[in-house]
Amino acid sequence: MSKIEKRFLRSGKVKDVYDVSKEELLFVFTDRLSSHDVMLADKIPQKGQVLCRLAAHCFANCEDNGIETHMIDVPAPNEMLAKKLFLIPIEVIGRNYVYGSYWKRYQRGEVQLPEGTDRVLAAKLSEPLIEFTTKFETKDKPLTEQEVISRGWLGTPEIDQIKKITLQLNELMLKDAEKAGFILADFKLEFGIDEEGKIILADEAETPDGCRFWDASKYQPNKIQESFDKQIVRDYLEKVKGWDKNQPAPGTKLTEPILPKKIINKTSQRYIQAYERLTGRKF
Ligand SMILES: Nc1ncnc2c1ncn2[C@@H]1O[C@H](COP(=O)(O)OP(=O)(O)OP(=O)(O)O)[C@@H](O)[C@H]1O
Ligand SMILES: [Mg+2]
Repeated sequence: MSKIEKRFLRSGKVKDVYDVSKEELLFVFTDRLSSHDVMLADKIPQKGQVLCRLAAHCFANCEDNGIETHMIDVPAPNEMLAKKLFLIPIEVIGRNYVYGSYWKRYQRGEVQLPEGTDRVLAAKLSEPLIEFTTKFETKDKPLTEQEVISRGWLGTPEIDQIKKITLQLNELMLKDAEKAGFILADFKLEFGIDEEGKIILADEAETPDGCRFWDASKYQPNKIQESFDKQIVRDYLEKVKGWDKNQPAPGTKLTEPILPKKIINKTSQRYIQAYERLTGRKF
C-alpha cells in the first residue's frame, strides 16, 4: 500500500475508499469478488491490480482524447488517487449488443430494438444504445431521461453531454476491444460533477467488472455468450450442489471460502489476460 496519508471512509463491493484531502479520494482496488449478487469470501489474486491498471489505461486514453476523468495519480498498482466529486446517482449503460436485462425487457415488450437489428439474443445493435439506471437501489431500475430530469439530478444539456461522452468513450474502448479480439457487448459508466459544475467521468471504466467482453472468435448470435471475466466462478458455482437451489439473499456475505484453488487461479489468469489483451502490454 502507498504511504499516502488517508482516512478510511467506506468499503464498496470491490474498492475501499479513503479520504485524502478536501479535494481528493483514494480508491484501493481489492481482490474481492461477488457472484450471483453474493460477496464471496475467496479473493482472486491480482484482480484489484488488473481493474485499477485497466481503468488507469482507459482514463489516460480519455484525457488524450479530451474526456475529463477523475484520475489524478496511480500511487500503487491497485490504488487510484481521484478528484472528489458529487456523484450523479445514476449508472449510464452503453450497449452495442442485445443481451442481459435488455434482452429480457425486449422479450417482455418493454423496449424496442433499433431498425436493422436482428431480433435474436446477442445480436449486434445497428447503432449503440445509451440507457440510465438507478444506482442506489438494491435492484438497478431503468430510468427515462424525463425521470432523470424530474428527480432534479440533471438537465437536458447535461444529459446530452453525458450521452456524447459515453458514445465517444465507446469508440475508444471498441478500438482496444477490436485489437484484443474482444467484443464489447455493453458497459457501465459513472459520472460526477466537480466544484465548477463540470461533468467528469468517475469510478472505473474498461474493466471486466464494468464491461461485458466476449471472445470475438467464439461469438455466435442467438446463443448465450461466455463473458471474459468471472464466468469461471459463475459456472463453477452453478454446479455446486445447493447453491442454485438455495441462493443466499442479494448482498449476503459468504464467510466460508468455497472456491477450489484451481478455479481461483484460472480466474486470476483470465483477469490478467484481459489486461494484456486490452492494453497490448505485459501485466
Ligand atoms: N470521484 C468520485 N467521487 C466520489 N465518489 C466516487 C468517485 N468515483 C467513484 N465513486 C464511488 O465510490 C464507490 C467505489 O467503490 P465500489 O465500486 O467498490 O462500490 P460498489 O460497491 O460497486 O458500490 P456502487 O454500487 O455504488 O458502485 C462507488 O460507490 C462509486 O460510485
Ligand atoms: Mg462499483
